[in-house]
Amino acid sequence: MGLQRCVGPGLLNEGCREELGSLHGIPLYKSFIEGWPQVEAFQARHDDLLIATYPKSGTTWLSEILDMIYHDGDVEKCRRDAIFNRVPFLEMKSRGHIPLSSPSAGVELLEKTPSPRLVKTHLPVQLLPASFQEKGCKVIYMARNPKDVVISYYYFYQMAKMHPDPGMLAEFLEAFMNGKVAYGSWYEHVRGWWEKRQEKQLLYLFYEDMKKDPRREVQKILQFLGKEVVEETVARILHHTSFQEMKKNPAANYETMPSSLMDHSLSPFMRKGISGDWKNHFTVAQNERFDRHYQQHMAGSDLCFQMEV
Ligand code: A3P
Repeated sequence: MGLQRCVGPGLLNEGCREELGSLHGIPLYKSFIEGWPQVEAFQARHDDLLIATYPKSGTTWLSEILDMIYHDGDVEKCRRDAIFNRVPFLEMKSRGHIPLSSPSAGVELLEKTPSPRLVKTHLPVQLLPASFQEKGCKVIYMARNPKDVVISYYYFYQMAKMHPDPGMLAEFLEAFMNGKVAYGSWYEHVRGWWEKRQEKQLLYLFYEDMKKDPRREVQKILQFLGKEVVEETVARILHHTSFQEMKKNPAANYETMPSSLMDHSLSPFMRKGISGDWKNHFTVAQNERFDRHYQQHMAGSDLCFQMEV
C-alpha cells in the first residue's frame, strides 16, 4: 500500500477550505457558482479551441502541448507566463487568493486574451455555455481511467486548498463513486462528452494513449487542427511536454501559485504522471467494488477505458 494521506486528520482544515456548493446538481466551488452568470453568458469566438476534461485527466499536459503547437514549438514563448494564464480556466472565479497580475475570473482573463485562444474547462457537457456550439468551436476532450483519476484527485484535494478535507482514501473513494466530488460524477462527465462527439467538432483523447504513444496522439491533434508541423518541431513539442520537463518548468508545474492556494509540500501538482498508480493505493476489496460499480455505470456505452495499463 502507498501513502494514503499526507497529513493527519484535522491538519487540512486551514486556509480557505470550504464545503462545495451545487450548480444545477453538480458539486462545485462556491466562488465558481457565484461567478456562473458571467460564465453562462460567455461569448466564445469562432477560432477558440476548448480543452475539456474531468479534473486530473491530463488537462495541463494537453494545454502545454496545444500552446506549443500554437507557438510552433517555441519553448521560450511557452515560458511567457504560467499555464493558468496562457490557457485561461473558463469557469474559474477566485476569492482573493489569486496569483499577482491575474484577474480573479477566467472570463475576465479570456476577454483580454488575443485570438486564437485556448480555453480550459472542466464543465460537464450539458453546462457548456451555448456560444461554443453557436460559433462552431473545436473541442479536444481528454479522459483518463477513473482509478488513476480518483487517486490523483485525492492528492489534489489535499494540496489544493479550495477543496474540503477529503478524509481517508476509503471515504474519498466512496464520494468519488457517488459523484460527490467537485464536478460531480466521472461517469456522467466522460459519457456526456462522448455521446455529444458527433454533434460537435470534437476530438476525444485518452491519457493512457498519450502516455503510450505521445507522437501518434500529437499527430492526431495536428490533423484535427489542420496544421502541418515539421518533424523537428514535433520532437521539440514532445520533449518540452514530457512529464520530467513539465515537472521542472515553473510555467507548467503550478509552483508559482501562492501556497495559500496550492501547497506543493503536501503533494506536488506534477505528482507521478503515470498510468496504473491506483495499484499502489487500492485494496483488493476496493478494487473489486470499484470494478462492479464501473461495470454498472458504463453499461450500454461503447466508451472503453484501459484499466490494466
Ligand atoms: P498524477 O497525480 O497521477 O501524477 P490535470 O492537469 O488534469 O489536473 O491532471 C494532473 C495529472 O496529470 C497529474 O497526475 C499529473 O502528474 C499528470 N500530468 C501532468 N503533466 C503530465 C505529463 N507531461 N505527462 C504525464 N502526466 C502528466
